Amino acid sequence: MKKRLFSGIQPSGEVHIGNYLGAIKNWISLLDDYDCIFSIVDYHAITVEYSPGVMQERIINAAATNIAAGLDTDRCIIFVQSQVPEHTELTWVLNTLTPMGILERMTQFKDKAQQNEKNINVGLFDYPVLQTADILLYKGQAVPVGEDQVQHIELSREIARKFNTRYGELFPEPQHILSNAPRIMGLDGKNKMSKSMNNYISLIEKPDAIWKKLSRAVTDENRKRRDDPGNPDICNVYTLHKYFSTDSELDRINKQCRSAEIGCVDCKKILSENMVKELEPIREKSLELINNPVSVMDTLNAGAEKCRKIAKETMSEVRSLMGLR
Ligand code: TRP
Repeated sequence: MKKRLFSGIQPSGEVHIGNYLGAIKNWISLLDDYDCIFSIVDYHAITVEYSPGVMQERIINAAATNIAAGLDTDRCIIFVQSQVPEHTELTWVLNTLTPMGILERMTQFKDKAQQNEKNINVGLFDYPVLQTADILLYKGQAVPVGEDQVQHIELSREIARKFNTRYGELFPEPQHILSNAPRIMGLDGKNKMSKSMNNYISLIEKPDAIWKKLSRAVTDENRKRRDDPGNPDICNVYTLHKYFSTDSELDRINKQCRSAEIGCVDCKKILSENMVKELEPIREKSLELINNPVSVMDTLNAGAEKCRKIAKETMSEVRSLMGLR
């Protein structure tokens, strides 16, 4: 039997190439080896300020783009967290096993609390326990995440262990899988690519918009003029080439940049073309799905149905071990 894999997708609006290269591509490579469940985590998303009016659109966009990018729903389940009430039910149970002190030490909580000083709510504090419930509800064993989530997965192991010791063996201890793509930097070359930094290229960007954004992207800042030799080792545009261009192109660009045979504009033109080639089918498929939200909702409903079945079973085991019912 295949191991169960679980991961969460934030419904944060447009999916960008940082998500694609850093997370989605890694998930796709795991689809055959694991029994995969992906959840669009709307209950996590509401722990910070958001607009209720755009939530559904964001959920559909997140689902559509991830499916279009390769999360083939014949090979995995995708569903919306709030459609399976057992997530919050298990969270309550796990809350009683989680010391406040551990949650106070969570780096993401400290960061987010600092950014949301006016809204440090209990949900934000409890976020990692909801995340643990997400995984344990399906007895998830493998959890592909970025570096910033490793602390949360460690916590989920601790909570699983605590439950098993206190009430009886039920949950496997989830292991994180780190993607081998290093974090993708934004077009500013300084910050991680993200929606909020506005330094991203989205998966549904039109070809001319990709070019427009790339043409302003920061390169090797020591290369002031066209005739200066450049250094690909410290150029973020060159780093992006590694994901979209062939080895022989990389080789050539590397040499010609160092000898100032090509300028940054030429280099970006090649990147733009290659990026468009890879992203265009994803964009088309995404738009097709986004324009037909009913079909996306059907897919999500079917996913939730399957998950509710698994979740119900786990909750009944939990209740019985705990002497509830
Ligand atoms: N907290 C994760 C993030 O921000 C998203 C998430 C929610 C998740 N539940 C999860 C990831 C369960 C892995 C497993 O990226």
